[in-house]
Amino acid sequence: MSASSAAAPAAPAASAAPAAVAPVRTAGGAILLDGKAVAARVRAQVAAQAAAFSARYGRKPGLAVVQVGNDPASSVYVRNKRRASLEAGIESFAHDLPADTAPAQILALIGRLNADERVDGILVQLPLPVATDTNSVMDSVDPAKDVDGFHPLNTGLLAQKRPRLRPCTPWGVIRLAQEYGIALTGRTATVVGASNIVGRPMAQELLLARATVTVCHTGTRDLRAEVERAEVLVAAVGRAGFIPGEWIRPGAAVFDVGINRTAAGNLVGDVVFDTAAARAGWITPVPGGLGPMTIAMLLANTVEAAQRRKGLV
Ligand code: GUN
Repeated sequence: MSASSAAAPAAPAASAAPAAVAPVRTAGGAILLDGKAVAARVRAQVAAQAAAFSARYGRKPGLAVVQVGNDPASSVYVRNKRRASLEAGIESFAHDLPADTAPAQILALIGRLNADERVDGILVQLPLPVATDTNSVMDSVDPAKDVDGFHPLNTGLLAQKRPRLRPCTPWGVIRLAQEYGIALTGRTATVVGASNIVGRPMAQELLLARATVTVCHTGTRDLRAEVERAEVLVAAVGRAGFIPGEWIRPGAAVFDVGINRTAAGNLVGDVVFDTAAARAGWITPVPGGLGPMTIAMLLANTVEAAQRRKGLV
């Protein structure tokens, strides 16, 4: 690392590519990263690809969404995923199993979906009931149909710089940054949260984009110092207002993955929005940021899986 890189500007530079979305500023001054608008663009692209696939093969790309139990938050996500699939011209196969379904039955269902030619993508909504071994279920999904990008093969390919099907939320962060022309190369990026669903694949995506990446977790000694250094911050903790706005580096790009319901019933992120927006260069709203992007990237992955299975890409 050169000496000059230590004196990098506070704000991530916009890349040479023009921003594709007309920027709107928050009251605090940061540019709002409008996930809803970008997701609509992605969904329109997916719909066009899905229509071309249907015209060529006489069937729509197919997505099976499996829910075990009836966790209320999961039910909302699953409903949204199924509705978005239909709107994009993707066939939706719904499989809702009771919470006490035997693991062998879940595995048998996934085996049938793996073998079903109409099904291009399989998503098993997490979390699974505590009694179910999540790893054995996720590992049983055919990697070619793993539209969540959670199978160890797809995780490993991303880690080896040859991504195939990529986890939807991290992939959505990268797409959002691209759409707003936020350069990631050379930036100091901090990911708060080290889950398999978001934090870890997010770190791999940022590394692939050539950022210098730090991942924070419950063992991190000085979280504030790590956040204060971040030119790009991804918060994926799942705790309302976990990161005070005062910690945000001036000019930083803030991607808030948290979707938390307050006692008053509002949805808020992991970052305290108003104070963060007064310091950040760019910031995602909650709701309307990574939530819609995650669904859009799931649809994109489903069409990509369908095309790959036909040898088209
Ligand atoms: N639960 C929370 N986020 C996700 C996701 O992206 N995929 C699945 N399958 N389950 C989730």
